[in-house]
Amino acid sequence: MKTRITELFGIDHAIIAGGLQWLANAQYVSAAARAGIIGFITAASFDDIDQLREEIHKCRDLSDGKPFGVNVSMLPKLVEGERTEQVFKLIVDEGIRFVETSGRNPEPYLPALHDAGIKVIHKVPAVRFAKKAEAAGVDAISLVGAECGGHPGLDMVGSMVLATLAARSLKVPFVIGGGIGSGEQLAGALALGADGVIIGTRFLVADEIWAHNGYKEKLLEAQETDTTLVLQSLRNTLRALRNDTTHEVQRLEAEDPGNLELLMPHISGQVGRQAYETGDWSRGALSVGQAVAFADRTEPLADIVARIAQEADKALERTRSIASA
Ligand SMILES: Cc1cc2nc3c(=O)[nH]c(=O)nc-3n(C[C@H](O)[C@H](O)[C@H](O)COP(=O)(O)O)c2cc1C
Repeated sequence: MKTRITELFGIDHAIIAGGLQWLANAQYVSAAARAGIIGFITAASFDDIDQLREEIHKCRDLSDGKPFGVNVSMLPKLVEGERTEQVFKLIVDEGIRFVETSGRNPEPYLPALHDAGIKVIHKVPAVRFAKKAEAAGVDAISLVGAECGGHPGLDMVGSMVLATLAARSLKVPFVIGGGIGSGEQLAGALALGADGVIIGTRFLVADEIWAHNGYKEKLLEAQETDTTLVLQSLRNTLRALRNDTTHEVQRLEAEDPGNLELLMPHISGQVGRQAYETGDWSRGALSVGQAVAFADRTEPLADIVARIAQEADKALERTRSIASA
């Protein structure tokens, strides 16, 4: 498969494995590299810069010379101020070639990154932000719709509408995401004019994701209706697995909208990390999207990718035969 995205990153499949807080480490990201897609070590998972440096070295050792990148999420309370500068400096010093940014417009950092030959893909939840990022000079865009795990933005427009509109208004290469977990959807995304897809949720059951099996088993059982939205009152909407925490957060948000202090003990990243460690999925605001419905077994990431690629080939074949009938 050859698209502007496979060319940009030097990958075999038009699939990007987006950053995953706590989970996208060297083990996962190098598995993505070896599977012929690109993944991003999530900088915000590492408390100090030396740990992140070590993780980058480890990933390089495990990636067989294949491309990988670093995710810099600039949402409030993730990587802020000084730390963002420090992370970008490390990325340049380490000779990283690809960066996925999210949360805020990366414009202030682009000159330094481009001077170092780094390609930047910026993730946004709306076409108007995509256009802004394009004007600011990013190399590619990830556009995620309402179905996505994590932060779908405030507009809640579905990925199919976003992809079609983006194809009509963007010039830079873009991938579409939010609810993508099958090859049929990859084929569909290409037909809509996207250059590939971005996936988070579907890959959470990969063997290389270090989280506890209890958590993965819950994901295998979960259906497309088992996620819910929280934190709208903070204007920081999150799609997460429906559990005790999301129920409680929804109750608190109805009672006292926007009270961060009240919500913090429930939504802090540390509670989420514990769920991954113990497998007790009932607590924590655990980012999960509607594509969880496609997760049917735990297996190596490369096998999930291979299945998606085969499904895409079949779907493309089917559309070709319909077109030529
Ligand atoms: C568990 C989880 C953690 C995530 N953490 C981050 C993050 O730290 N930074 C980021 O930019 N995106 C994060 N995302 C979003 C993904 O990179 C990706 O954009 C999204 O999962 C795509 O939609 P999907 O979940 O429907 O596949 C996360 C998603 C999930 C499911």
